[in-house]
Amino acid sequence: MKGLGFIGAGIVGTALAVRLREKDYPVVAVASRTPASAQRLADMVPGCQVYASPQDVVGRADLVFITTPDDVIGQIASQVEWRAGQSVVHCSGAESVDILEPAYRAGARTGGMHPLQSLASINHAIDNIPGSSFALEAQQPLLSDLKDIVNSLLGWWLELKPGDKPLYHAAAVIACNYMVTLVKLATDLWQELGVNPKEATQALLPLLQGTVNNLGNVGLPNCLTGPIARGDLGTIQKHLSALESKAPDMLTVYRELGRQTVSIALAKGRIDGMRAEEMHNLLTANRDGGQTP
Ligand SMILES: NC(=O)c1ccc[n+]([C@@H]2O[C@H](COP(=O)([O-])OP(=O)(O)OC[C@H]3O[C@@H](n4cnc5c(N)ncnc54)[C@H](OP(=O)(O)O)[C@@H]3O)[C@@H](O)[C@H]2O)c1
Repeated sequence: MKGLGFIGAGIVGTALAVRLREKDYPVVAVASRTPASAQRLADMVPGCQVYASPQDVVGRADLVFITTPDDVIGQIASQVEWRAGQSVVHCSGAESVDILEPAYRAGARTGGMHPLQSLASINHAIDNIPGSSFALEAQQPLLSDLKDIVNSLLGWWLELKPGDKPLYHAAAVIACNYMVTLVKLATDLWQELGVNPKEATQALLPLLQGTVNNLGNVGLPNCLTGPIARGDLGTIQKHLSALESKAPDMLTVYRELGRQTVSIALAKGRIDGMRAEEMHNLLTANRDGGQTP
């Protein structure tokens, strides 16, 4: 089996190294900006040696993962000397494989393997990388190697074509980061009721977990519940009135997401086209009854 090397011993590099070693991938080399970070990874991965520089890792591994911050990937790719036939992979969700162009020009196989996961710490990442989805961007035969790696991590892979990355990553930001933003906005509203943000977050968690479970179990659009799914115009009007008086800054986001939600409700089939149009108009109307541009 090919020897793996890691440049960048942070959250993703360490979690991948630990989990892939458990699946019998030989992880042979690691280097990081701070020697202690590389040593921490090596201590968790039997057989892995710490090296002083990225070039040492490239000299010893057949498949090199560059798991540094995104801004550093291009520098590493251009600073080291690559061998024809070896493989180099980064884990960025935003950068395409083009950032590894210097390695490609030297005859190396280049790819991207982005774990579609929010990984906050090394231990959390070790727990959560298995079973994650991964976006793969590579040519054969590296693509097959990466699919084997994802399969060994019990993950699901999505193959991206050149140029797909920005749209793919924008979707991930909407689903993950903006969910955090929405919870923050909800907790802000509850502060009007005297509920502090920590308590509010705790109180919302079962609702969020139930919603995620429904998404998994029932899927879109049938998992949608709530007033828009039911076509409850009166309730939506009450929300708009309350926001106008207590939190007018939130009206724009409430209205915009509401209009997007009407389409899901229509697809679910509990409301007809006429009720959908009424809700859309209510969510578009200004306070004085006019239409937003
Ligand atoms: N965390 C996530 O949720 C997540 C999810 C999906 C993908 N990713 C991607 O995974 C990659 C790594 O992210 P991460 O979250 O693991 O970041 P991280 O925890 O900050 O780890 C990055 C590591 O790279 C090392 N490093 C920095 N500059 C270096 C250099 N010039 N040479 C060698 N090593 C250097 C860091 O420094 P020290 O050696 O000083 O520790 C650190 O150990 C990124 O491309 C990121 O976009 C992250």
